[in-house]
Amino acid sequence: MLIVENKLYDEVESLPERVRIFDTTLRDGEQTAGISFTKEQKLMIARQLAKLGVASIEAGFPASSPGELEAVKAIANEGLGVEIVGLARSNKRDIDKALDANVDAIHVFIAASDIHLKYKLRMTREEALRAAIEAVEYAKEHGVVVEFSPEDATRADLKYLYTMVESVVDAGADRVDIPDTVGVMTPTRMKYLIRYILPAAKGRIVSVHCHNDFGLAVANSISGIEAGAQQAHVTVNGIGERAGNAALEEVVAALEFLLNVRTGVKTELLYETSLLVSKLSGIPIPPNKPIVGANAFAHESGIHVHGVINNPFTYEPIRPEMVGQKRRIVLGKHSGRHGVEHALKTLGYPTHPDLVLVVLKKVKEYGDKGMRVTEEEFRKIVEESLRELEE
Ligand code: KIV
Ligand code: ZN
Repeated sequence: MLIVENKLYDEVESLPERVRIFDTTLRDGEQTAGISFTKEQKLMIARQLAKLGVASIEAGFPASSPGELEAVKAIANEGLGVEIVGLARSNKRDIDKALDANVDAIHVFIAASDIHLKYKLRMTREEALRAAIEAVEYAKEHGVVVEFSPEDATRADLKYLYTMVESVVDAGADRVDIPDTVGVMTPTRMKYLIRYILPAAKGRIVSVHCHNDFGLAVANSISGIEAGAQQAHVTVNGIGERAGNAALEEVVAALEFLLNVRTGVKTELLYETSLLVSKLSGIPIPPNKPIVGANAFAHESGIHVHGVINNPFTYEPIRPEMVGQKRRIVLGKHSGRHGVEHALKTLGYPTHPDLVLVVLKKVKEYGDKGMRVTEEEFRKIVEESLRELEE
């Protein structure tokens, strides 16, 4: 279902019919400070991601520890019917470890920005370029799919970035990913960068990998796709280093419901996937988080509740069931008659106008005291009001 019908918009967007969802919850997501999944937890998440319908699961960084290698291998050997990817720096040891893990694809990377080359790798641009080419060639010799990322691409010299992308494609890379490693892009700049880099990719899939340091990861990912990228790296709930990565559920929902682009994701499983990752990572879902937050489809104010009861699309862009969520009508100081009537009806109470007014008054009194009206409180209010009306 396309929810914004306006031909004018269609004219300014050139969108692919389909976008690959490359999930990196188990690699970049696990790099969130303080998170470390066990092998069993990784397997549970991988199974859920496969059920969800992502195109690729980046299961981890096999060279980082023996336990990680074992976990990635277990996922790769699980027969999930989805591409399993292992991360590797641009050296033979890392690539060998990823091969040991039996992955379908290797995500090879090396820094492209001068700041990373100078202060992290202590390499010249030429040395990094050579290492990238050799790594891609080496991985390709082993018959796996190779995706290459020039790390910190968005702070790299543009001409150097172009040369690096063109060179790894010539060396055999199947896909090229453009990481906004420290989240410094804006949607307009992202569009420019992807358009600039596309010719260097020579028809290979170009991907975006956006971090959320300025809260723009999802917007930048969408912008990159509007410019011609055909894959987005995402994590469930947007977990990841610092402020995280582009959130899978937000990117997918925007593509599917706003832009009519297919992702292969079963959107009705988004909420349960989000809950699972929240539980296993120990990172709570903020209530106001788009798509999967507890308030994403909650309504309290009288005007909104009235509208939503008559037609949910008055104040909801999509039906909550489309992402596995449920609508919640919340009672509090902003409630109106319709909200109370709805709650009475839902709980099997009478809905005559006198009762509605008495209950509404009490609900507002609760709200004015800064209290939440839970179902239990509401039942007490109703019983009390019924008694008062009888007297
Ligand atoms: O953010 C980043 O640059 C990465 C790379 C490993 C691709 O996660
Ligand atoms: Zn990253």
